[in-house]
Amino acid sequence: MPFPRPTILMCPPDFYGIEYEINPWMSRSRASDSSEARRQWRALHELLVSLGVDVRLMAPVKGLPDLVFTANAGLIWHDKVFLSRFRHEARQGETPHDAEWFADAGFHTIELPPGMDFEGAGDALFCSKTLYAGYLIRSDARSMQWVASEIGCRVLPLQLVDDRYYHLDTCFCPLAPGEAIYYPPAFDRYARSSLRRYVDNLLPVSEEEAARFACNAVVVGKDVVLNTGCPQLEAELTQRGYTTHATPLDEFIKAGGSAKCLTLRLDGEDAALWE
Ligand code: ARG
Repeated sequence: MPFPRPTILMCPPDFYGIEYEINPWMSRSRASDSSEARRQWRALHELLVSLGVDVRLMAPVKGLPDLVFTANAGLIWHDKVFLSRFRHEARQGETPHDAEWFADAGFHTIELPPGMDFEGAGDALFCSKTLYAGYLIRSDARSMQWVASEIGCRVLPLQLVDDRYYHLDTCFCPLAPGEAIYYPPAFDRYARSSLRRYVDNLLPVSEEEAARFACNAVVVGKDVVLNTGCPQLEAELTQRGYTTHATPLDEFIKAGGSAKCLTLRLDGEDAALWE
């Protein structure tokens, strides 16, 4: 399954909406505007294509409004995918659709043992050879240890302490091996000190920009795609030699997601150094 170009999985927002509340951003009284959501999703899609990304699509399914957040379908490692086991029942119906898509695309699908919670690339992100693993709110630490031992890599469990930053990809974004963006208050003290110890180059974001999902960025080489409203981070990334591309994703923030959540890199993230 060779990927000649950066390849990303997305799912159109045909059935996206705020139908339940499983994180503090979601409120059924704050509905998303479906035509605006489609426009924002299409703009993100076009932007990625313009950066040379091969975007693959999963068919949307009625009754699964969060299927658009393909980051949570699983964790990709070479030609294997560790399928998610969602903590909340509301999202558990997504997994059979994800599994089918991955199998059709030629991936080996791996299921975690029952009883473990694991939300894929929402909580498990490679930076260099290490798997950075957010746990407590959505995934549990045991599932992360299980996945890392199957892969045979080092895992760094990071306890998440703020419900607004319930997935690791809402508060941590690997940019390159040894370089990442993060929002320090989302982590417990021990996790913060682990991050400082293992990631040479850490770029903190402000409270205000964290709430604009600054950390939920899509990195494609030296291009970084993120929500609007993060000028400070954009300036710092530019200084570091990255090119930033801001695109409005407010309709998805209503569900607690932004650019990164809407994508799943199928050929491995740029920051990952797989064995
Ligand atoms: N409403 C979804 C949930 O709460 C949003 C998922 C966002 N995805 C992510 N990778 N952070 O599960």
